[in-house]
Amino acid sequence: MNSCLAGKHIVLGISGGIAAYKSVYLLRLFIKAGAEVQVVITPNGKEFITPVTLSSLSGKPVISEFFTANTGEWHSHVDIGQWADLMVISPATASTIAKMANGVADNMLITTYLSAKEHVMVAPAMDLDMWAHPATQRNIETLRADGVSIIEPASGELASHLCGKGRMEEPEGILKAVEEYFLTAADKAECDCAPGSVYRHFESAEKKLAGKKILITAGPTYEAIDPVRFIGNYSSGKMGFALAREAAAMGADVVVVAGPVDASLVPDNVRVVNVVSARQMLAAAETEFEDCDIAIFAAAVADYAPVEVADMKIKREKTEEMELRLVRNPDIAATLSSRKEGRVTVGFALESDHGLENALRKLENKNLDWVVLNSLTDKGACFNTDTNKVTVAGRDGSLRAFPLKSKDEVARDILRLL
Ligand code: PMT
Repeated sequence: MNSCLAGKHIVLGISGGIAAYKSVYLLRLFIKAGAEVQVVITPNGKEFITPVTLSSLSGKPVISEFFTANTGEWHSHVDIGQWADLMVISPATASTIAKMANGVADNMLITTYLSAKEHVMVAPAMDLDMWAHPATQRNIETLRADGVSIIEPASGELASHLCGKGRMEEPEGILKAVEEYFLTAADKAECDCAPGSVYRHFESAEKKLAGKKILITAGPTYEAIDPVRFIGNYSSGKMGFALAREAAAMGADVVVVAGPVDASLVPDNVRVVNVVSARQMLAAAETEFEDCDIAIFAAAVADYAPVEVADMKIKREKTEEMELRLVRNPDIAATLSSRKEGRVTVGFALESDHGLENALRKLENKNLDWVVLNSLTDKGACFNTDTNKVTVAGRDGSLRAFPLKSKDEVARDILRLL
């Protein structure tokens, strides 16, 4: 049995509060679990714990300033942000939370946060009045809206000797929240991490899709030629059903309109409408689109269908050569996105060349809010694999490139962006 943190890259951000001493234990727990940890500490953080302690435990130099004073070496917050699988800021003081919420990039920890490509979790620590202050609560809400997970502080005795809410979660509790973040369905079978009670705080932050109905199209479509033959493609439906599973885990009411896929992919808590052809997929998706909030078009829809479907099996002996006349199928994503009225629509772009260029054109032409580019030239991506490598572009001009990950993790990344 392995820890689900084994081999993961974690940036541990430490800001200046008395709870910083707990981060030494947290660092030890991460290292013991097999993670690689890069510590980034604010100048105030160094008043509470020394970089020497932290670098001895992590086995890496601790980063605090933009430059190393004696050599002038520049520390790239972009590289650290891209290296990380997860950033954990513990303790996060009121000041650091305010800077994160407002993008005040005046130290290495905040610039790293702003460059982080992966998920960020914060463990706030402060006095009860500071925590309760509307300014702090406003900033916390901003971070939640930005997709940051908040590991809520506990109630208890504080450094000021007052009693109340503001005490940073214990290192073991933060470790549990991090473990749960890394757990995927596959991991659960192979590692000995199990979520504990502390995780409730993190879980509630992740139920962001509660009350939302999500429509997902998945799998291939088959366009009949005769009673035994069809035009189809290699889509398995794995990407679409990973999205369905993760959306349901985030509290959404999920319906999948699926082409012919393996029935074992279908999760219990997801409603499925089975279809075969593109026209059937459009009809079912149109019905479900009516009351949905978000529509994700992950299906590989056949672009063309035979003009005529033979009633009887076409006999090989009678046809030396054969011409098949095709007619263009309706574009489901474009049709529904043209009447979206406040709904969020997400399309996929499956490309073999000029990936980004084509994906951005589909974003525009199909009136989508987001487009997820996956490329046939990337090994382990696209059809019938358990992994995918995507770049997500938004109508707001944003662009996020993710490394190769399991389709469950890719689904989580996409849903978090939404
Ligand atoms: O199912 P898997 O084996 O897990 O593989 C996943 C996947 C590769 C199928 C998936 O990640 C993916 O890329 N799905 C979209 C495939 C596709 O048809 O791409 P496209 O670039 O041709 O289409 C662009 C978008 O328009 C897609 O959202 C597609 O669903 C939609 N479309 C296309 C044609 C059409 N007639 N109707 C549509 O809705």
